[in-house]
Amino acid sequence: MKKVIMDVDTGVDDALAILYGLESGQLDMLGITTVNGNVPLEMVNANTLKVLSLAGREDVPVHPGADRPLLRASEHVHHIHGDDGIGNALDDFVYSNRCEEQFAADFIIEQAKNHPGEITLIAVGPLTNLALAFRKEPNLSEWLDEVVIMGGLVSEMGRGNKLPNSEFNIFTDAEAARIVFHSGTETTLVSLDVTKQTLLSNSDIDTLEGGKYHDFVRQSTEVYRAFSKERFNLDGCALHDPLTVGYVLNRDFLRTEKHYVDVETISSLGYGQTICDFSNLWDRPPNVNICTDVDGEGFVSHFLETLGKEG
Ligand code: BDR
Ligand code: CA
Repeated sequence: MKKVIMDVDTGVDDALAILYGLESGQLDMLGITTVNGNVPLEMVNANTLKVLSLAGREDVPVHPGADRPLLRASEHVHHIHGDDGIGNALDDFVYSNRCEEQFAADFIIEQAKNHPGEITLIAVGPLTNLALAFRKEPNLSEWLDEVVIMGGLVSEMGRGNKLPNSEFNIFTDAEAARIVFHSGTETTLVSLDVTKQTLLSNSDIDTLEGGKYHDFVRQSTEVYRAFSKERFNLDGCALHDPLTVGYVLNRDFLRTEKHYVDVETISSLGYGQTICDFSNLWDRPPNVNICTDVDGEGFVSHFLETLGKEG
């Protein structure tokens, strides 16, 4: 089984990504690290613990990380993820698992050192924890097998979700993203270009009826689906974070190409933009695998099958 650590800002689609990863049975989830993002860190921690408990996986350790971006102030998105970050789907849920003491970045470093070349780091929130870890431990990039990140947009300019050219995770901590993109680790960016082609519709949710996660999926995505309709006229919500896990489970879901990619950190119009040098104008070595195509249907079917498995 592939050893993974997930770095999350749970978040509706983070929650779905965690459940997808756990229920796939293909991943050895060494731990989950949390980061400020969609909602404040305290909420991210609680949501992550609740989701693990819902899955019956209280054995997975949760390590709290950065409670703010490296330099900028946070902008949370309750209007997409709900008051608590998971659409209030687990408001009265009783859970007894608790966070670990060890800081997220230290956990990542420790595990990577203990399992050199074996760990895939799946990052589906702002990249603050990863940046701190890379800065603290210069050998980290050699110890990690790869980093798979949900973030950015590279081809669909003007179709960002935070600024016209910026995606939320990268926008939230663009300085951190810059550090990670230049870390030297094998890095894949699962960007909005492809994640927006993976919609979870009402009828998709119906197929989970009778299953363990039907109520959670329906309720947690309610605010998110309403927002997606109103803002982007979408009939469903994009499975950004689950697709990132999907790629780790099955490489055939995405087509990738390696290019030089950098992050804008200065301009107020373009802060957090991921710039891909397709024509190699800068003449720099490729550092990031970007996604050029997605098997959206195949992925969504696998996601639904995986979450629908148990009754
Ligand atoms: C990303 O931003 C967050 O709101 C989601 O959880 C996802 O990680 C999509 O841009
Ligand atoms: Ca996320």
